[in-house]
Amino acid sequence: MGGETGREERHSSKVMTLWSGRFSESMDSTLWDLSESYSFDHVLYHHDIMGSKAHVKGLHHAGLLSEVDLETLLTTLDQIEGEFDRGTFVRAGSDEDIHMAIERRATELAGDVGARIHTSRSRNDQVATTLRLFTRDALEELVRSVLDLVASLRELGARNSGAFLPGYTHLQRAQPVLLTHHLSAHAWALLRDVDRLLDARERVDVSSLGAGAIAGTSLGIDPAFSARVLGFHETFANSMDAVSDRDFIAETLFDIALLGVHLSRMGEELVLWTSAEFNFAQLGDAFTTGSSMLPQKKNSDVAELARGKSGRLVGNLTSLLVTLKGLPLSYNRDLQEDKEPLFDSLRNVHLVLASLAGAYRSLRFNAGVAGEAASDSNLVAIDIAEELVSENVPFRQAHEMVGRLVRDAIKRGVSLREVVEADEKFVRFSHLFSEGAALSRRSSPGGSGTLPATVQEERLQARIADLSQRLEG
Ligand code: ARG
Repeated sequence: MGGETGREERHSSKVMTLWSGRFSESMDSTLWDLSESYSFDHVLYHHDIMGSKAHVKGLHHAGLLSEVDLETLLTTLDQIEGEFDRGTFVRAGSDEDIHMAIERRATELAGDVGARIHTSRSRNDQVATTLRLFTRDALEELVRSVLDLVASLRELGARNSGAFLPGYTHLQRAQPVLLTHHLSAHAWALLRDVDRLLDARERVDVSSLGAGAIAGTSLGIDPAFSARVLGFHETFANSMDAVSDRDFIAETLFDIALLGVHLSRMGEELVLWTSAEFNFAQLGDAFTTGSSMLPQKKNSDVAELARGKSGRLVGNLTSLLVTLKGLPLSYNRDLQEDKEPLFDSLRNVHLVLASLAGAYRSLRFNAGVAGEAASDSNLVAIDIAEELVSENVPFRQAHEMVGRLVRDAIKRGVSLREVVEADEKFVRFSHLFSEGAALSRRSSPGGSGTLPATVQEERLQARIADLSQRLEG
């Protein structure tokens, strides 16, 4: 697909480009290396060709291109796309970016007809349109990957139905919770990510084609026509906004950064769960790595990288925001810096999503170990206090009474259960210590109890169905 920088195809340290008419000297090679973007934007070829096809249809619609020329250009563009698909497209030394490369090749193949392709179009509205088309597809693909990760969490819950573990606050054991409740907490966060990504898709779904370089054209084109051809829901209202707006990329990068933060927290949890100290879970061998020195090691690198990648996802968002800050209207070449953060975030978040989904599918949950940890008798303290409240003791007094029992147990080096069973004032609460008692008694909506679990499951299913429908709709 041509050289990485195009340099090897040039014979001197100067470059001649498609726009060289105004210049008496060709571009210095240092500026070329600084400004060329083909090396990273060639991945946009499919969406750029899509935009170009809509553009030439628009030219024909406006009477600026004959039927025969339109057919020639459409066939030529298909041919170029085929070259990219097959990896046979050859970059010329003067191809500054993907847009110039395609136009240059079209002119090579179709002669004068090819030279009409850029009529009433600028790379400024072209690149904005191409990026919107690319991002629209990327958002949909991302939503599918996030929904698959949610599915993997739900499968893990279903494989371990009834399993429970300690719920933590401050990483100290707080109350026993159902594994499904715990996993659903992650699912709800991921579904908010999906919701945001679908919101972003709505705002990306606006065509910029027809804005020209900054202020439109005198050639009588109809931007709404090409917008319809491209399946955009709306057409830009202001040409200056159309060529300078990169909010849709900033928004996508924010959504990915926050998604990355969620994935990072899930990663951290897997690191803890798979440590010998917790031993709540084991990952399958296919999702773990060994140590180059220590033969016994089985490391959860997948989880650490889920945590580690979040740094660059946040960094990419920051990078674009700083690029945009302070730019005067309208297009400025700084905007070319929008692409690499976008591509990098998409690539890395996909890697994390796919490998985390695989890791959860390979995960064996040690229900025995986790259940035992959740049966720590101190975790029943709140249930005793709540029983006292049911007997009309004010909560603060109940809290104090049970707190004293806990302190007594610690002082005597015995469990809370033993203290309660041996105390005639509290022995009536002994049944609260039986396994799973807390979970079957807990009834408040949205809480982790057997009863509210059914309602939550219904809500979760409905939410997933709703978001999937929005994706396809
Ligand atoms: N490669 C450029 C970009 O990514 C395309 C637009 C160039 N426009 C211009 N007026 N030089 O932004």
